[in-house]
Amino acid sequence: MKALITGASGFIGAHLAEALIGRGYQVTGLVRRTSRTDRLTPLQVELAFGDVGDSDSLRKAIVGADAVFHLAGLVKALAYEDLLRVNEQGTENVARACAEASTPPVLVVVSSLAAAGPAPNGRPRQETDPLVQVSNYGRSKRAGEVAAGQWAGHVPLSIVRPPVVFGEGDPAMLAMVRPIKWLGMHVVPGFTERRASMIHAADLAAGLVAVAERGGRVAAANGNTDASAARGYYFLAADEHPTFAEWGKLIATALGRERLRVLRTPEPLIWGMAAANESWSRIRRRPHIFNIDKVREATAGSWTCTADRARQELGFSVAAPLAERFSQMTRWYESQGWI
Ligand SMILES: NC(=O)c1ccc[n+]([C@@H]2O[C@H](COP(=O)([O-])OP(=O)(O)OC[C@H]3O[C@@H](n4cnc5c(N)ncnc54)[C@H](OP(=O)(O)O)[C@@H]3O)[C@@H](O)[C@H]2O)c1
Repeated sequence: MKALITGASGFIGAHLAEALIGRGYQVTGLVRRTSRTDRLTPLQVELAFGDVGDSDSLRKAIVGADAVFHLAGLVKALAYEDLLRVNEQGTENVARACAEASTPPVLVVVSSLAAAGPAPNGRPRQETDPLVQVSNYGRSKRAGEVAAGQWAGHVPLSIVRPPVVFGEGDPAMLAMVRPIKWLGMHVVPGFTERRASMIHAADLAAGLVAVAERGGRVAAANGNTDASAARGYYFLAADEHPTFAEWGKLIATALGRERLRVLRTPEPLIWGMAAANESWSRIRRRPHIFNIDKVREATAGSWTCTADRARQELGFSVAAPLAERFSQMTRWYESQGWI
């Protein structure tokens, strides 16, 4: 079996490449000339150079693939248009290129819980719940789902919406891990108790492979709103939903820190800091993950979802509890000198 991964050079891409190779797939990674591919080199991933904005490069890379995993995406940008260009238009280009293949491959689009929205009424979100995006990132990921859905009549399509993903190679979690390691301090936005679903990248990768091999598919012409059944859509997440404070404690324990100071920060201060950081990003013309859009998400409620559908349809489960997975991640950070 041959698989193509877009966004192979990214954090999740390397974990997925490893999982696919472990199952005997021949893996090609779509990367850009500027991409860092050092995590792919030891994995024997063939490289195809291209860009999700360049349909020709996509058509060439897809030839012969049995499955395409579309991970390429922007999680931060200076403008909403930039998010749409990659997360919506790039996803449509990938879906169209799959549809144009002589034998269209299975297409698994990696979207985000942000495309669906926070937990409704204090319970974990299910695939069938009405969608309520609260951020530009979420809206752009939903736009990508809709754009891919237009090709569902031509391509066997599934859409996975992961919550927070963490693991070895994740640069995003460092902002939380470093203050815990160095200062024994964990900053929590606001005074409301909020929970988050999460998944280790290796568990997500295993789930993505299961979705490609035996998952349900999005119904033709139903990419837009299939809220009643949302067939072919999956949340993949661990069963634990820690509060933001517990999340810090999990990391502290993984680092062997017995005491942790949880610093609750008033929301107006967080908004102000994000606005200042975003202005600084604009001056430097380099987007930063701590921005107003992320604060919109962080203050929108609990971000929990249930993987019940994936469990029932695919036999999905995570291989290890969060505590063990966070230890694995922090050991890797230490081994690489990141902390
Ligand atoms: N990390 C999470 O917590 C999380 C949660 C939910 C959903 N997701 C989704 O999962 C996917 C992967 O996330 P990640 O954390 O692995 O992100 P990441 O580390 O930032 O990787 C993004 C990947 O997309 C590639 N890319 C960006 N623009 C591209 C373009 N125009 N053409 C081709 N490739 C392009 C990047 O290539 P370069 O290396 O060249 O920059 C990189 O390989 C994204 O779609 C994201 O929205 C992530």
